[in-house]
Amino acid sequence: MLRLCRPIKTNGQQLRALFSKIKQVSRWFLGVELAERYTKTVKASSNSIAPRRIVLTGFMGSGKTTLGPLLAARLGWSFIDVDDVIEAEAGVTIAELFARHGEAAFRERERATIARLAAGDSLVLALGGGAVEHEETRALLLTAPGTLLVHLEVKLSTTLKRCQGSEHSRPILADQANLESRYQRRLPLYRMAHVSIAVDAFTPDEAVDAILCAIG
Ligand code: S3P
Repeated sequence: MLRLCRPIKTNGQQLRALFSKIKQVSRWFLGVELAERYTKTVKASSNSIAPRRIVLTGFMGSGKTTLGPLLAARLGWSFIDVDDVIEAEAGVTIAELFARHGEAAFRERERATIARLAAGDSLVLALGGGAVEHEETRALLLTAPGTLLVHLEVKLSTTLKRCQGSEHSRPILADQANLESRYQRRLPLYRMAHVSIAVDAFTPDEAVDAILCAIG
């Protein structure tokens, strides 16, 4: 299998150069364009210092909650799922929070919870799919030194396939009429992340490898 990783410390700029070299070599010698699944967008790496926390974002079903603990185990870090903390502190499920107080109240609770948790070190943090819609949350996660925001990109069809049957616990998924427009609205916001990886075709372990590869 083609490996894009070298076991060296790299910053975002070096990684971009490395990926473009590999693509060029593949085009010249193999006569093929590297498949999209092997390419990653690496825009910046948390002010070029080694990340102390990795924050996973992406639409529902992108694997944030599944990959987070695997990634944390590989790094010897802790894992926290923001939605779990919100539910534990509220004493009710997210679906109940939406039903009782509405989406706006949930978003404010989500913003405050992330602001508190995102100060931790040696931490993998999984966000809920809508967290990056909040401008303050985006600004915090994109600029805080040592924070690397990683977008796990999936097609809407992947979300629908993976999340089928979980509408009762995911109010945003249940809101079918607005799902496609939400997905389209969020996509450019997710893509502002330091690293964006298309994970539709990856197994959880492959996705973790790709994240580790991207951080060098
Ligand atoms: C939401 C996604 C959910 C959860 C809440 C809202 C969203 O998290 O935070 O139901 O707005 O996309 P997952 O992305 O983990 O399903």
